[in-house]
Amino acid sequence: MSEKINLTLKVWRQNRGEEGQFKTYQAQEIDTDASFLEMMDIVNEQLTLNGEEPIAFEDDCREGICGCCGAVVNGKTHGSHERTTLCQLHMRKFKNNDQIVIEPFRAKPFQVLKDLIIDRSGLDAIITEGGYVAVKTGNAPEASTTPIKKELAEAAMDAAECIGCGACVAACPNGSAMLFTAAKVSQYALLPQGHPERTQRVKGMVSKMDELGFGNCSNEYECAVACPKGIDVKNIARLNREFIKANLVK
Ligand code: FES
Repeated sequence: MSEKINLTLKVWRQNRGEEGQFKTYQAQEIDTDASFLEMMDIVNEQLTLNGEEPIAFEDDCREGICGCCGAVVNGKTHGSHERTTLCQLHMRKFKNNDQIVIEPFRAKPFQVLKDLIIDRSGLDAIITEGGYVAVKTGNAPEASTTPIKKELAEAAMDAAECIGCGACVAACPNGSAMLFTAAKVSQYALLPQGHPERTQRVKGMVSKMDELGFGNCSNEYECAVACPKGIDVKNIARLNREFIKANLVK
């Protein structure tokens, strides 16, 4: 059964290019059935009524699909509930009179644009560098003419679950985008349709990742713990194998 709780929020407020700071707000009479973002909506409504600037945060689907939302809540990316995006986190996970510290994902390539909104265009740039998958025009061929082992299809689909939220980068002490890049490389490298461009894809994505200042992987595995979609670190091993093979091919 739902109940009403009162919370103290310490929220990071920052304008682009300026120094940021934590500000304290009270969130009163929050229904425990509300989602975290709905709680933020209620706080913002009150701030607006008081003539104050609402807290800027990013969201779109609120269903754990788009990867837009994301903040560090009490020191954990997307909050403390495993395999849950911030929009899917519910207030029943908090207790009456809790203090919640909310700050943006922090990493060298993630510039703060406003409050909790960061610039994640670096992740888009890595995907763009991966290029296209060549497909023949005409009718779709019979699915059974391209045999794919069930375990490979499942591993590819698991990798494709990455929503590009950037939690892996923010959780990594090196600010590495290896788990993200590994998921994007793996989803094609595991399937025959992704093989024609596999060499240029992995080379391009890895060099873009380095160029944009994402850090190296030192096997901390914080990325996999933080990932709301449970992307497996085995994908990083696959990325490394793909990269080594690509560099052996002239
Ligand atoms: S708003 Fe789309 S994943 Fe959270």
